[in-house]
Amino acid sequence: MAGLIRTGAITVGERMPSVRQLSKLENVSISTVTAAYHLLEEQGWIAVRPKSGYYVRRQVRDSLEVPSTSEIQSRPVLATTSQLVMDVQREISKPNAVSFSRAIPATDFPITRHLERTYTRLSRMRKHLGIGHTNPVGPYELRQQIAHHAVDAGVAISPASIVTTAGCLNAMGLCLQVLTQPGDVVAVESPCYYGILQLIEAYGLKAVEIPVHHQTGLSLGALKLAMEQWPIKVVLSVSSFSNPLGCSIPDERKKELVLLLEQYQVPLIEDDIYGDLYFGRRRTRAIKAFDTQGLVLLCSSLSKTIDPQLRVGWILSERYYQELLHRKFLNMLSTPILPQLVSAEILSQGIYERHLRHAREAYQYRYRHLVDLVSEHFPTTTKISRPQGGIVAWFELPKHVDATELYHYGRKHDVLIAPGEMFSLNKQYQHCFRLNYSARWTPEKEKAIEKLGQWVAARCST
Ligand SMILES: Cc1ncc(COP(=O)(O)O)c(C=O)c1O
Repeated sequence: MAGLIRTGAITVGERMPSVRQLSKLENVSISTVTAAYHLLEEQGWIAVRPKSGYYVRRQVRDSLEVPSTSEIQSRPVLATTSQLVMDVQREISKPNAVSFSRAIPATDFPITRHLERTYTRLSRMRKHLGIGHTNPVGPYELRQQIAHHAVDAGVAISPASIVTTAGCLNAMGLCLQVLTQPGDVVAVESPCYYGILQLIEAYGLKAVEIPVHHQTGLSLGALKLAMEQWPIKVVLSVSSFSNPLGCSIPDERKKELVLLLEQYQVPLIEDDIYGDLYFGRRRTRAIKAFDTQGLVLLCSSLSKTIDPQLRVGWILSERYYQELLHRKFLNMLSTPILPQLVSAEILSQGIYERHLRHAREAYQYRYRHLVDLVSEHFPTTTKISRPQGGIVAWFELPKHVDATELYHYGRKHDVLIAPGEMFSLNKQYQHCFRLNYSARWTPEKEKAIEKLGQWVAARCST
């Protein structure tokens, strides 16, 4: 059937033969046809219309090709992040704006209500105010749940090697404080989540940007060359469903990466914040799953799976545990207890797993809808990434089209995007931008995509 669609024998918008018809035609069971249709749906060939049947979808554009090279493209440079980052942050709270700029999860899932109820109940039941500072390690029940969930990523760790933090960025900041001194060189992904670049700037570090392939993530060849050439102190990687490309380092390459770290005795800060939001059949492993020498410090939080307002994150590290704890104590004494207790309770119940199943399915659907809209409204030269999980997509426009100008145009018309300029220390992504597709689609949001597409089309035709 995919072949028939590919060759145009069945065209876009056309209804597929009914399950019953096809079962008769091919002399196979109804369940075989249903399974085949599910597969075609999963691969993006067809979509179901309730009470009507299956229809051929508009075809997904070619995925974004990002050159993956074993040449090092950048020298270590002192991080100075774009002014645009704060500009984009300020715009976030603009009322009436349609925002695609923030990598935040959707709020239309039942877990939001569950969260509210748990907060209310626990704030009545357990004393959390008037108790002074709590132990900086974080409550045992939360660390136990984090250890329990880490098994899904292939990581076996004791709650005694976990430090809780105020979110994932805070976790990575504490790791950098422990592992680096101002002026040190660190290796980051390119394109890189701008929060990481900001941390590097805050600690006076230099960064070498390592190319990321749109499907296989961080280029190990380029990283090896960088390690040979520069005194790299730490590597930072969003290993599963990176921000902004949505790609993952395949498990077997994660193993290779750990061997490289061992060879050079360089630690790696792994940001696994999107790990639970996979679109495939099972969770990918964390790099830490292959770490036998304690060189990998795994950081994560509930900011992408539940709500960034919780500000609950963590670091898994046996080797650097004491130094991390000391750093947390120096930075903030401790983190608020109530959100941590609420998180522990949510993680301990089946509702979290159910929520993840639901969210993963919704995000996949919402991404596909974004692709449909882009196919309709953007010129054919637009490239869009094919995330394997997570909540953001990366766009590449023809080189002469300035995505920062698109950002300013969108801002004027109350449509917010994240310009590519923010994702690197040199100007290599000026023609790119990132959109968040997590929220439910509304006519207003669809219109906003159309508006962006019209602007790009006008630029491409000149
Ligand atoms: C890759 C990545 N890491 C960390 C963060 C920040 O997480 P948190 O809100 O838990 O500090 C983000 C948020 O956008 C992110 O995309």
